[in-house]
Amino acid sequence: MTTTDGLAGVREHYGATGLTERLKAALGPEDRRLTPAELAGLDQFHTRGLAATAELATLAGIAADTAVLDVGAGVGGPARFLAATYGCRVMGVDLSAPFVEAARYLTERTGLSGQVSFETASALALPFDAARFDVVLLQHVAMNIADRARLYAEMRRVLKPGGRFATFDVVLASGAPHYPLPWARTPATSFLLSAAATRAAVEPAGFRALAWQDDTEAAKAWIAQLRAAGPPPSLNLGAVMGPDFGQLAANLARNISEGRLGILTAVFAAASIDT
Ligand SMILES: C[S@@+](CC[C@H](N)C(=O)[O-])C[C@H]1O[C@@H](n2cnc3c(N)ncnc32)[C@H](O)[C@@H]1O
Repeated sequence: MTTTDGLAGVREHYGATGLTERLKAALGPEDRRLTPAELAGLDQFHTRGLAATAELATLAGIAADTAVLDVGAGVGGPARFLAATYGCRVMGVDLSAPFVEAARYLTERTGLSGQVSFETASALALPFDAARFDVVLLQHVAMNIADRARLYAEMRRVLKPGGRFATFDVVLASGAPHYPLPWARTPATSFLLSAAATRAAVEPAGFRALAWQDDTEAAKAWIAQLRAAGPPPSLNLGAVMGPDFGQLAANLARNISEGRLGILTAVFAAASIDT
């Protein structure tokens, strides 16, 4: 891997020193079981939170017997939601070791460790055999990845033929974004593509689009709703990303409202390897 792929900078951005200890302090007595819904303010690290995960799961056709891989799983909120809602098994991988440690801790606290597990790994070198999963999710991760051809080829490799790749991402719309942003404090670790360029990168890896949605207006409505609701809940992503998270999120909202960034939901079917 080259030094221009940004992985070291991305790891540093999500470095989150002492994250699990901070979460322990914020979440109170260890013997109290937590629910995925109660954690949603801090463990759904993407635009439109839990609602976006629920919609993506429906579009991807997840059911109890679906083997799911969540790539760039963060602190594991989407994986826990899927396991709790559908009864499926979910494997999550993330580049950030502190996020994986926190994901395991939160999964214990929600009693879901039998169904959900996490490993520290790069999306560009997934530690799994080929054709292992029915669905691969990628939510708000591709913006951190320069080598999209390799990323989407890895998704395809680990999917069974006919499996689904479901992605929910921030995309370039018009004009340069303002930084810092939730996934990158500077442009050095941000590798945004337009929606059209994303599709042009995904399809040659062996995928056919099943669903393609511009969710920018839905994101604008969500941002307006958050503003109207006043101060954030006490359990929010500041606990994960630090005290400047409000500024990072405000810049994302500004970029979306100024038409610089958009939000894309897409689901693709994996073609058979030899087609
Ligand atoms: C904005 S967060 C989204 C987390 C999660 N998908 C969610 O929606 O809650 C981006 C995540 O992608 C992870 N990530 C970025 N680049 C990665 C890579 N090359 N391999 C694996 N994970 C990566 C980061 O560590 C971070 O946890």
